[in-house]
Amino acid sequence: MHHSFFFSTGRHSRAELHWITTCIQYQGGWQADGKGPSIWDTFCHKKGKVFGEQNGDVACNSYELWEKDLECIQLLGLTHYRLSLSWARLLPDGTTRHVSQKGVQYYNKVIDDLLACNVSPMVTLYHFDLPQALQDQGGWKSPSIATLFDSYAQFCFQTFGDRVKLWITINEPYVCAKLGHEDGVHAPGLKEPGIAAYVVGHNMLRAHAMAWHSYNSFYRPKQRGAVSLAINSDWVEPLHPDCAEDVAAAERYLAFTLGWFAWPVFVTGDYPEVMRSAIDAQSKKMGYSGGSRLPSFSKDEPAVLGTADFFALNYYTSRKVKPRGGCGQVLCVKSDQDAEEVLDPSWPICGVSWLAVVPHGLRKLLKYIKDTFNNPAVYITENGFSQVGPLEIEDDRRSEFYKDTIFEVAKAIGEDGVNVRGYFAWSLLDNFEWADGFSVRFGLFHVDFSDAKLSRAIYHSGREYAKIISKYKSAQSR
Ligand code: GAL
Repeated sequence: MHHSFFFSTGRHSRAELHWITTCIQYQGGWQADGKGPSIWDTFCHKKGKVFGEQNGDVACNSYELWEKDLECIQLLGLTHYRLSLSWARLLPDGTTRHVSQKGVQYYNKVIDDLLACNVSPMVTLYHFDLPQALQDQGGWKSPSIATLFDSYAQFCFQTFGDRVKLWITINEPYVCAKLGHEDGVHAPGLKEPGIAAYVVGHNMLRAHAMAWHSYNSFYRPKQRGAVSLAINSDWVEPLHPDCAEDVAAAERYLAFTLGWFAWPVFVTGDYPEVMRSAIDAQSKKMGYSGGSRLPSFSKDEPAVLGTADFFALNYYTSRKVKPRGGCGQVLCVKSDQDAEEVLDPSWPICGVSWLAVVPHGLRKLLKYIKDTFNNPAVYITENGFSQVGPLEIEDDRRSEFYKDTIFEVAKAIGEDGVNVRGYFAWSLLDNFEWADGFSVRFGLFHVDFSDAKLSRAIYHSGREYAKIISKYKSAQSR
């Protein structure tokens, strides 16, 4: 299949190519230089939580091997790099009462090194790893977390904002809320179905909004950066497009993923109506008498509407859905959502079980975002392809995946007029893939976790990606 190179033409020629790393997934050094424990440290150290009882204590050891990562970044020719700060590395007990200077030095070096190599950092403040000290006070379930997050965010704007111009407050609030507090498969491992996820999601939106307002009032005038939150969503289609129930199920599915966080920020300042009515109807059916399980935003707090300077999207996969039917016997997010996923055999599962490979779903989702959220500037902040099982260094399927996906993004830009500003692939290196440990590899560089040096070696897909970037750069300079 021939792939035209989308960055060279079209009215939106601003798309740039980028990469990503994160705290626990790369850094290791879980106790180094006074870092406080995070909920993921605690979670991994419990039995039976992570594949093979693995943990992120060392991971890629980017805490000590940062220069090696920088070499990889340069080898690919990246223009931007997305990294996540570890809150507990900077503020070991989660509060600004105690700042770790070593933590500050580490991130200063990373940021300065990137800039010296002409690579712009995009920095995520929160990527799943709450300081354990704050979890001990109720974590994201506690309303007071929003002001604690705001203090942390302001500390980061103050410390790094002279050089960092692209900020993500919270990565994937859906995943934190649902996998961490409903399913219990991510830290902090709580299983409180039907209640906690909505509270956590709500507090994450409050925290995000406070931080955005702080940036807007106190830092933006001088620092002139942009702030958003990274929202994950699948693309979803009705199993039978001409069946009204399936169409409604698809609408609910999107409302409970993308809409849950995007609607309050981009559309109304409140949750999608279809989400609230589904939750309330289910409560009624189950005889739940505790009021709406979906909290409401207070008028006395900073408004959540309008608190994103761009749309940050993490896209991995697509789904077809129909109503779950007969599912209403338990109180949980899934039964509120009432949408059953059906696998489309023409969408191959490659690597990790949840990842059906559907590049064209990204184009459709981008068009949907343009139409629904008033044509925002969009950064695709994550997208990738995993390997599980026998290792392939000549990973042609991943190379094809990136080419196909970038071609779809090109069509979204050129034909649908979506205002895409950047594309970040997940991920630079193989890394600690949460509950899947090291068994799932998303890297463009292979990391040999059995070797004490944790040596990095480029995959075929990494070489191909570097070629795409270099074509992009020469097109830009023409
Ligand atoms: C996202 C997450 C990343 C990475 C990726 C692949 O949910 O933000 O940290 O793990 O999924 O599974």
